[in-house]
Amino acid sequence: MDFLKLVNEALEEFLPKSEDVVSQAMKYSVRNGGKRIRPILALEFCKACGHNPEKALPFACAVEMIHTYSLIHDDLPCMDDDDYRRGKPSCHIAFGEANALLAGDALLTLAFETVTKADLPAESVVKAVKELSFSAGILGMVGGQVLDLQNENKALTLQQLEGIHNLKTGELIRVACVLGCIAAGADDEKIKAAEEYAKGIGLTFQIVDDILDVTSDAETLGKPIGSDAENQKTTYVSLLGIEKSKEIAAELTKKAITALAAFNESTESLAQLAEKLQNRKK
Ligand code: IPE
Ligand code: IPE
Ligand code: MG
Ligand code: MG
Ligand code: MG
Repeated sequence: MDFLKLVNEALEEFLPKSEDVVSQAMKYSVRNGGKRIRPILALEFCKACGHNPEKALPFACAVEMIHTYSLIHDDLPCMDDDDYRRGKPSCHIAFGEANALLAGDALLTLAFETVTKADLPAESVVKAVKELSFSAGILGMVGGQVLDLQNENKALTLQQLEGIHNLKTGELIRVACVLGCIAAGADDEKIKAAEEYAKGIGLTFQIVDDILDVTSDAETLGKPIGSDAENQKTTYVSLLGIEKSKEIAAELTKKAITALAAFNESTESLAQLAEKLQNRKK
């Protein structure tokens, strides 16, 4: 099954059919260019729990909508002020700041409407709403973004930086994995194992993002490089250098793969995905 294709088709189905400017901005930012890591993780975990992965599609798309909204707002001049995203001008460059702000708001709202479209027991849908709202909120991704902005120009310890990374990036990755398990009706033991895997790949993901911000180029990444230095952010690279950061990413990835032992079904693709994320170039 081609999970990327499934996700892209489902996103199309859930996106607004209207063509007002904010609907256009929403579609512009969601379509094309995204790696779709989070929705693919949701489908993979649903499968690893022995369930039909297609059942998890509404949950998977909801996470991608929230992720896309977080990127639209992250690029705004009041935040990272980046003009380029997913290989195209950022949403606010293409549609103006007010429309970008509203497109982000509307994607966040649409995410929760999309969760309710899942063909799953009401109990699973409620559980998904609870998890997703926590992860996206002030104790999750938004909280991480707050700390990220408050600490620009400040020297952070590794522990503080890890805390920020776990919130701003780790939480949406964690919830993607957990929602896949919830869609499968999995027990708490499997959910805990999925969280353990997510912890390792989530931190690795942001460490690699910090490295690529220094070592890659805008064309490959589809977003500007040097943004962290320009905004005087503490990153894994600024604290530890590239080699040590890579070592930590490799250790975390190994640990993540170990957690997959809790699943009875094959988790080969999840192990491969963890390694792919560790070695990604974009
Ligand atoms: C970028 O996320 C922002 C971070 C949390 C590091 P991705 O690298 O997953 O971005 P897309 O979805 O592929 O554009
Ligand atoms: C973004 O982190 C995390 C969220 C959007 C929640 P970054 O600011 O490092 O992401 P990029 O590098 O702009 O994609
Ligand atoms: Mg940022
Ligand atoms: Mg940014
Ligand atoms: Mg970055």
